[in-house]
Amino acid sequence: MFDQKAYEQRVQWFKEARFGMFIHWGLYALPARGEWVRSIERMPESEYLPYFRSFSAPDFDPKAWAKAAKAAGMKYAVLTAKHHDGFCLFDSQYTDYKATNTPFGRDAVREFLDAFRAEGLRVGLYYSLLDWHHPDYPHADAHHPDREQPGVTNEGRDFDRYLDYMHAQIRELCTNYGKIDIFWFDFSYDQMKGEAWRATKLVRMVRSLQPGVLIDNRLEGSGEGFGSLLSGAPSEYSGDFVCPEQIIPPQGIQDANGRDVTWEACVTMNNNWGYCAQDHCFKPASMLIRKLVECVSKGGNFLLNVGPDERGRIPAESQAILKEIGQWMDKNGESIYGCGKAGIPKPEYGRLTRRGNTLYYHLMDAPIGYMALDGIRFGEKIHAYWLHNGQDANMDAGWVQGGYPGVTFVNLGPNPVLPDPADTVLAVERLEHN
Ligand code: GLC
Repeated sequence: MFDQKAYEQRVQWFKEARFGMFIHWGLYALPARGEWVRSIERMPESEYLPYFRSFSAPDFDPKAWAKAAKAAGMKYAVLTAKHHDGFCLFDSQYTDYKATNTPFGRDAVREFLDAFRAEGLRVGLYYSLLDWHHPDYPHADAHHPDREQPGVTNEGRDFDRYLDYMHAQIRELCTNYGKIDIFWFDFSYDQMKGEAWRATKLVRMVRSLQPGVLIDNRLEGSGEGFGSLLSGAPSEYSGDFVCPEQIIPPQGIQDANGRDVTWEACVTMNNNWGYCAQDHCFKPASMLIRKLVECVSKGGNFLLNVGPDERGRIPAESQAILKEIGQWMDKNGESIYGCGKAGIPKPEYGRLTRRGNTLYYHLMDAPIGYMALDGIRFGEKIHAYWLHNGQDANMDAGWVQGGYPGVTFVNLGPNPVLPDPADTVLAVERLEHN
């Protein structure tokens, strides 16, 4: 039976954290055409193995990653311990296809965990259910790079043996690396879902070895399908949160009973998860700040991706974006952490978030002259102050008030340009509700 109370407790830190870093890094950083390169280009493994032989990542510095994440205001991070290509960033005893057998020679997962924990961040591991290296993973399959090779077949491939391998690796990650806060499995498709992964057994093992861990919903779902978490009667392997990919759900996410579901939108900064040298279509920091706010205003988290390059560096564009987001978060973080839906319709000029009795008005499009405080009754006792400078708001609405008797206005002053072009935040504490 699904234990709602235990569930709520488990996800509490996650819902308070709101903002995390996704890190896609592996051999695919060398061809530098995204992490699906083998599948998209139908690249045989023989053409990919040279990257394994030359992977040296001379600038790999997870402490610098952790500092960048922390400075951006992120509270947790999820690293690809193994992606679909099957290459393991950790020192697994069950494969030779791992970082410790490359010229790099280090256990990147362990170093990532140490570095991020040292910065006080929660840590998560992404583990691909698909595996394009393991001989027993179906090759005649919707995604396998060899799917169009002449004569490709699944004959002689023992999927059970693959599952033994997968379960054993996940056990290693659960036992050899201290406390893991999130397991991010990826992904289910066609018949490959739920018990096809021996999901009940897997989830029981993970939860017994890592009590309190959060699990995503992709043992049943994917970026497009959300699984039984939405049914109101989740399966044992439904996971703890829904993870919409490259989209922020229009109304947040509710289950069949209308209850808000825990969710996390994962989004790339450019158009690739893994490093892609040609992809310079980066979203501006101001846009990403607004998207973070949008997630929080709809009751969700934002997991923003970086794809370090073949040397192990977070691309310069991404570093600059992280820095700019951090400058905004330094001043405005209180309108994000522990905040959620305001329960008031989205205002024309921006968005609303709320924590307890404090509403946060996110101004993205400057109103002319006065701003109406949606949800605040005229005359209600409030304390309104700007987050960017800590100053109390000017509540003197002057003659405008006459035409709108029930409305509470804030006077924005003589300058029509908002102090923060990305998002200027007004906090309104409702004193009568304390
Ligand atoms: C997808 C992709 C994958 C990426 C993930 C992130 O399912 O297969 O490359 O890691 O989404 O959400």
